[in-house]
Amino acid sequence: MKNFLSLTMLAAASTASPVLLPRAEGLVYNYTNSFGLAFSQMNASLPNITVFATGGTIAGSGSSSSSTTGYSIGSVTVSALIDAVPEVLNISNIAGVQISNVGSEDITSDILLKLAKQINEVICGDPTMSGAVVTHGTDTMEESAFFLDSTVTCGKPVVIVGAMRPSTAISADGPSNLLQAVTVAVDPKSKDRGALVVLNDRIASAFYITKNNANTLETFKPVEQGFLGVLTSDEPFYYYPAVTPTGKISFDISSVTSIPRVDILYSYQNMQNDTLYNAVSSGAKGIVIAGAGAGGVSTSFNYALEDVINRFSIPIVQSYRTNAGEVPQSDVSSTTATHIGSGFYTPQKSRILLGLLLATGNSFDDISSAFAKSRAA
Ligand SMILES: *[C@@H]1O[C@H](CO)[C@@H](O)[C@H](O)[C@H]1NC(C)=O
Ligand SMILES: *[C@@H]1O[C@H](CO)[C@@H](O)[C@H](O)[C@H]1NC(C)=O
Ligand SMILES: *[C@@H]1O[C@H](CO)[C@@H](O)[C@H](O)[C@H]1NC(C)=O
Ligand SMILES: *[C@@H]1O[C@H](CO)[C@@H](O)[C@H](O)[C@H]1NC(C)=O
Ligand SMILES: *[C@@H]1O[C@H](CO)[C@@H](O)[C@H](O)[C@H]1NC(C)=O
Repeated sequence: MKNFLSLTMLAAASTASPVLLPRAEGLVYNYTNSFGLAFSQMNASLPNITVFATGGTIAGSGSSSSSTTGYSIGSVTVSALIDAVPEVLNISNIAGVQISNVGSEDITSDILLKLAKQINEVICGDPTMSGAVVTHGTDTMEESAFFLDSTVTCGKPVVIVGAMRPSTAISADGPSNLLQAVTVAVDPKSKDRGALVVLNDRIASAFYITKNNANTLETFKPVEQGFLGVLTSDEPFYYYPAVTPTGKISFDISSVTSIPRVDILYSYQNMQNDTLYNAVSSGAKGIVIAGAGAGGVSTSFNYALEDVINRFSIPIVQSYRTNAGEVPQSDVSSTTATHIGSGFYTPQKSRILLGLLLATGNSFDDISSAFAKSRAA
């Protein structure tokens, strides 16, 4: 990482509008693999990585569409990345795929399905590929990361990365995060750990990571479970060998074409039950409650919740609105309806999991047992 903060980066940092950073010397797209992925270089002794760009501000704000004419798929992504972090070419051959170009709030289940299927095809299905890097806005990154963790079918590293500061800010974190993400993706020690989130020198499991602060660099934390590893001078170090989180469920999405709608409702004082009925009548096939404490809702809302479970057989998962903890089954059980405690899953991860369970045709009871796997009690 010694020379990444070049003069041009500093120049870019001092101007208000996006700046076109100079293209790395001699960048040509002259190698295309059997999946149609174009590489900016092909040095057969280096690992091959594909960067899947979803949008969000991460790097190379400058690389304008005008510079991409004549390049094949995803070259915008790759050229922007290589402009910002030419060091990646010393450790990998890189191809790029532009999956979407939206801020992370606009990532949809359809985009996630497309992304996961492509990773399964061009990374898992190709022995010459070492791993995937996914660039993503940070706001909903934990949802996409959890989706990929649940749906990518091989143990090759899938690293999700973003930036908290715009590329024009002083000490922009995008270039450094990108280099770290590629470094983690090419490291054989990163295999069989599920999807990984890399930002701010830390390596975390997608299963537990959550964004904790709306603004600051050190926002991504697995609150209780801790990081898997760290990068020091761009060298990854894992604290423990590869393990799978307790209760993790993997899905085969090869024949899934859409994810049913699951809504999240937030618990608060004076909570009314009409929001629940509105969600159901608007087409929600599952509901997640960001409950007060361990899944709690108002008495009137709880009656309505039981009414919806019993009348429509709609699964309702009660999670927590606190930043960490779990919802044990004993805190939500009743004799009049089948409640589902979320266990350790946050509301946003419960929503992704419930959507995948519904999309793959699980019964109400199967859904209940799936959540039970992540509960202590
Ligand atoms: C790609 O182009 C570079 C620069 O012209 C050249 O050095 C390299 O050998 C080419 N690689 C392939 C696989 O054609
Ligand atoms: C290819 O990569 C190897 C391993 O990093 C390096 O030693 C070699 O110089 C590279 N070859 C070229 C042509 O860059
Ligand atoms: C990278 O891809 C090339 C071309 O498919 C292949 O020859 C090479 O073995 C791959 N590198 C690794 C480390 O698998
Ligand atoms: C790539 O590695 C070579 C040899 O270690 C080094 O001289 C060069 O500066 C590196 N390039 C980048 C962009 O890091
Ligand atoms: C929903 O709330 C309304 C207004 O507070 C109340 O009249 C109604 O009985 C509640 N429905 C259920 C099923 O509790």
